[in-house]
Amino acid sequence: MIRKCLFPAAGYGTRFLPATKSMPKEMMPIVNKPLIEYGVEEALEAGLDQISIVTGRGKRALADHFDTNYELEHQIAGSSKEAMLNDIRHLIDACTFSYTRQREMKGLGHAILTGETLIGDEPFAVVLADDLCVNPGDGVLSQMVKLFRQFRCSIVAIQEVPADETYKYGVIDGEMIKEDIFRINNMVEKPAPEDAPSNMAIIGRYILTPDIFDIIRNTKPGKGGEIQLTDALLQQAKDGCVLAYKFKGKRFDCGSVDGYIEATNYCYENVYRGD
Ligand code: UTP
Repeated sequence: MIRKCLFPAAGYGTRFLPATKSMPKEMMPIVNKPLIEYGVEEALEAGLDQISIVTGRGKRALADHFDTNYELEHQIAGSSKEAMLNDIRHLIDACTFSYTRQREMKGLGHAILTGETLIGDEPFAVVLADDLCVNPGDGVLSQMVKLFRQFRCSIVAIQEVPADETYKYGVIDGEMIKEDIFRINNMVEKPAPEDAPSNMAIIGRYILTPDIFDIIRNTKPGKGGEIQLTDALLQQAKDGCVLAYKFKGKRFDCGSVDGYIEATNYCYENVYRGD
């Protein structure tokens, strides 16, 4: 059973400066809901109700968001505006939230290792909240949790990307073992198109087995001088098995301005006005 979902949320979000100078990127709203709230909803839908967040300096708004705001709630009690808090109140009631701080931003692998203290020795999911995923049926994490029950190994979500965009992603090479499921035999972090082993790019949804922590501990800084999760996953794939899953649904790269605008337009039409 997977119960925990880790949100690495300590990055600086430099692509959104100056907005992210004092506000966490994960609190940027898509219409009227912050990115991280969409991610926690997806986790809860998949049955993961223990939410672990890796934060950093200037990220206190994240913890405040998943807490009661007595003054505000008292102020709007009994008014029509109260209903606007229904979704977040439901999450706060249904989930537990714990936090730890990454002191130095040494990369995604390092952020996940920082979360070990919250996860312990059990399989867990990872959500990068700036990748917003939507699907009319099961959410992407739900799809992956089902797969984990069957295969019991680490799983990364992938999507096909245009060849000239591989430099933005970890890119996999693998053999197809079932429709939409690949066994990984190579992975490269942010390759130039000519070095990319395929056009199948890893996006911000993972299920990891806890042996990943020891592997990250032994992973040297890679691309950009950061401790890369991709490097640790490649080691895990070589030692055992890591699967890549071509998920059903749409994914918006809300860490980039273009993806953020696209997600905003999509959610305004399909989620906000559809509510
Ligand atoms: P990104 O590569 O998107 O970096 O990190 P970033 O700092 O958030 O954004 P830019 O590129 O400067 O605009 C991917 C995910 O990993 C987390 C980020 O918070 C984001 O969710 N992360 C990254 C950490 O938690 N710690 C790190 O040291 C690096």
